[in-house]
Amino acid sequence: MSYDFRSFINMAATPQQLAVALLFLLAGVLSFPLNQEKKRSVTCGYQSCHTTKPDMLNVHLVPHTHDDVGWLKTVDQYYYGDRNDIQHAGVQYILDSVVDQLLKNPDRRFIYVETSFFYRWWKNQSSSMQQTVRQLVNEGRLEFVNGGWCMSDEAATHYSAVIDQMTLGLRFLNETFGLCGRPRVAWHIDPFGHAREHASMFAQMGFDGFFFGRVDYQDRAHRMREKEQELLWRASDSLTPPMADLFTGILPNGYNPPEGFCWDQLCSDPPIRDDPDLEDYNVDDVVHRFLHIAKNQAEVYKTNHIIMTMGSDFQYENANLWYKNLDKLIHYVNALQANGSKVNVLYSTPSCYLQELHQANLTWALKRDDFFPYADSAHDFWTGYFTSRPALKRYERISNSNLQICNQLEVLGGPVSRKGPFGVGDSQTLRKAMAVAQHHDAVSGTAKQHVTNDYAKRLANGWQHCQVLVSNSLASLSGSTAERTYCDNLNISVCPLTESSKKFSVNVYNPLARAVTWPVRLPVNGTAYTVTDAKGNAVDCQVAPVSTATQDVRRNRGFAVNELVFQVQAPPLGYSTYSVSMLQDRPPPATTQHGAPTLIQNKFLRVTFDPDTGLLSSLTNLETKQSIKLTQNFYWYNASDGHNSKSNQPSGAYIFRPNSSTPFIISKTAKTESIQTSVVQEVRQWFAPWVSQVVRLYADSRALELEWTVGPLPIDDSLGKEVITRLDTSIKTAEIFYTDSNGREVLQRRKDFRPTWQLKQSEPIAGNYYPINSRAFIKDDMDQLTVVTDRSQGGGSIQNGSLEIMLHRRLLYDDVRGVAEPLNETSNIFPEGLVVRGRLLLSLDHPPSAADTHRPLAQEVVFQPLLSFTDGDLPPNTQLEFSGLQAALPPAVHILTFSQWDEESVLLRLEHQFQSGESKINSQPVTVNLQKLFSTLDIQGVSELNLSANQWKDKMRRFEWTPQKGEKPLLKTYEDPSAWEVTLRPMEIRTFLLRVIFR
Ligand SMILES: *[C@@H]1O[C@H](CO)[C@@H](O)[C@H](O)[C@H]1NC(C)=O
Ligand SMILES: [Zn+2]
Repeated sequence: MSYDFRSFINMAATPQQLAVALLFLLAGVLSFPLNQEKKRSVTCGYQSCHTTKPDMLNVHLVPHTHDDVGWLKTVDQYYYGDRNDIQHAGVQYILDSVVDQLLKNPDRRFIYVETSFFYRWWKNQSSSMQQTVRQLVNEGRLEFVNGGWCMSDEAATHYSAVIDQMTLGLRFLNETFGLCGRPRVAWHIDPFGHAREHASMFAQMGFDGFFFGRVDYQDRAHRMREKEQELLWRASDSLTPPMADLFTGILPNGYNPPEGFCWDQLCSDPPIRDDPDLEDYNVDDVVHRFLHIAKNQAEVYKTNHIIMTMGSDFQYENANLWYKNLDKLIHYVNALQANGSKVNVLYSTPSCYLQELHQANLTWALKRDDFFPYADSAHDFWTGYFTSRPALKRYERISNSNLQICNQLEVLGGPVSRKGPFGVGDSQTLRKAMAVAQHHDAVSGTAKQHVTNDYAKRLANGWQHCQVLVSNSLASLSGSTAERTYCDNLNISVCPLTESSKKFSVNVYNPLARAVTWPVRLPVNGTAYTVTDAKGNAVDCQVAPVSTATQDVRRNRGFAVNELVFQVQAPPLGYSTYSVSMLQDRPPPATTQHGAPTLIQNKFLRVTFDPDTGLLSSLTNLETKQSIKLTQNFYWYNASDGHNSKSNQPSGAYIFRPNSSTPFIISKTAKTESIQTSVVQEVRQWFAPWVSQVVRLYADSRALELEWTVGPLPIDDSLGKEVITRLDTSIKTAEIFYTDSNGREVLQRRKDFRPTWQLKQSEPIAGNYYPINSRAFIKDDMDQLTVVTDRSQGGGSIQNGSLEIMLHRRLLYDDVRGVAEPLNETSNIFPEGLVVRGRLLLSLDHPPSAADTHRPLAQEVVFQPLLSFTDGDLPPNTQLEFSGLQAALPPAVHILTFSQWDEESVLLRLEHQFQSGESKINSQPVTVNLQKLFSTLDIQGVSELNLSANQWKDKMRRFEWTPQKGEKPLLKTYEDPSAWEVTLRPMEIRTFLLRVIFR
């Protein structure tokens, strides 16, 4: 396939704009009446909308189906319509039936959203059916909206994975349908709360507007009164408006049809019975009820256009039912216009509706915060899923890191990565698995257990495919085809090779664009080792006994008695190799001391412990000489079982509802032991048979590591438990704390407060919980304590100076939001309940420079180095070190995407990872020279794309909107210094397609 590289050098090419204009012109000329000249007419997008009546209330009926990419059934079961005993749903039949029905009446419209399903269906169609569908798309009768592989969750997803899943879906649509396949509207009708970063990304993906269904009930009531259910979302504090401005519409009835108008086979509303000769003629009644609903709805929206979502979960399997009744509804309601009715009903799509709002030329309320947390009633806060299924949430995050490494090595190793000495590998399988895992019932933790297992299995299978690719690529880069193994269970000290080998090498691949120092812990059975780096220099290493907590989690999966600990360095986008040899008759390993020392410290931090309790007592930054009191402990909230005087809502997979605002302390004191070596100092704390922690300080780390192990949560007392850790500090917060949005920009959170409406707080804990995707912090004028997490979690700051993070949940009741299972995770290895282990990284800084620590730190957790192992000696002439970059990039720049796009081109996303004003040094624009970036690639040409890589940047035009207060922002265009030198401003992500030749 070939790309349009005409714009390599001359990026502001006017001939292209002309060409676009010409295309629109042609489109206009070719718009014959719909059923003639079917083959040639191309009138998709805004041109294909039905006309409306300016002097009437126009009701846009949007036929749609909401197809979850796994929830009660797996994605494949949903596609085929398998296991209809669980839920009647079959996406293949939906698409069959809808296409059939669209052909019956050219006025009919349908929107389709989830490309993972559409892709499955498309592959199985004959070429004549594909031609028919292309025609429907070209005429705007079948329109794609959103268009990602799935409709992502917004609370537990990381921006890197969201951008990837959107890119995957939108690329398929572009390649299959061209311009007419490009969605204009983002559509998140079901996610349970809405992240500001999602809106920012959608704006940068070129969407003209965004619609969703779920919004807090108090927020909705307020917006209905103020007619602010449609608004302009300014989704970034750093990007220059309108770059991250997104018009946002809240749908009137979630995503369901108005009451009484559901005509699917899954519904039981009366059909339109319009034969006067038969009994039960009901046209007058239906029309009357419809007009009533339409008029009420129009009162809470601003224009003389309203939208109705005619469909719901897995509807349209027998589309005839819906369309037959909708045809009649439109006919009979509009027939009344002859008698003076001022209501006009039409088949429509979200983009056609949006176009009318845009043409209304009004001003819209401006919103700068987000839509978390979401409550659908006073005691029903959907803040439990921020933490639900913490093991899946971590596995998804690691899988993203693995996918990025797989992508990078596919490029760096060249074609031999896909087919080489270790066989045939690919990145596509993991890419698709990751895209599926972004679904709003996947990483969110709200799918049934068997579906959750399916998500995990897909990720594992994807990683298998990537491992082959990674081995091939590293073989090509290192010149050694020695076998490589991977150890995915190092966090529980399991790695068969290092457990038994006397001599092995470790390859450390670093996916970041700067060199990192990283601690490595390997399970071993010797007592002493030597470690040498790629240059042959000895590396300080220590051996320490495997903790009992680790032995408890690993069970019979490994047999190492010790861990070998050392710090490694790897060059940017490259690897370094370390050799490890066991020594005989050398000093025994470091031994554990009973009790906690009074302090541990490295050159950056000092941590003290309370000798009486064994808990943390203070944290000091030795460079800045700042110090805070810090205690930390573990607690659990008793999950409501639904028997409560205020409401019968239980805590469940979605909803967090503690029975009491005071959590139970697990233990006031911790039993402790410690190990102090030159590489790492750690204090192991034991709180209960199901809660332990290691407080760890590596020699070269600016962060204190808290490695927690929680589970199996005991339920023999018949009480559901929601376990938190809480940090209580001397920092003087005034009911304010901060959380990130999808791992990127940070939002301020205030207790019992929402920025756009007067909150009546009804759940003092759950109503103050927010998603933490990668970090949260508390601060005052002097001190900022930042916690970087290794997965998405929920958390809050309930008391001043305090920050709590929910780690694990085990619940005995379903929360009646559909999943119909209690969140009570067990597995073969843990039949008595899942054990989960994770890390929190703490740093203490002065607020003005805190980002200089937490931005790179969080990126190191998200893009973590990959270790691979080779037994014995490496063949001579093995290249022990490699960097894909000519030089490390400045600290502000992150290589977000580096992946093979097709045979001759590579997709590159460069990101400025600081917010404006967040850092004196790093919140400045940075310029990068694309030609001087890579060490093994010659860049022949470059074209810039939108964020989702489905539109050339210079062709990107979005609707402009005017906020209520203030001017309409003018689109600023910045000039790059030259075609090769690109400038990144704070929080900017720029997407390039590079045409490359391997050196
Ligand atoms: C969209 O797909 C077409 C092929 O259908 C391709 O020529 C074009 O380059 C693609 N556009 C982008 C922005 O990738
Ligand atoms: Zn859904």
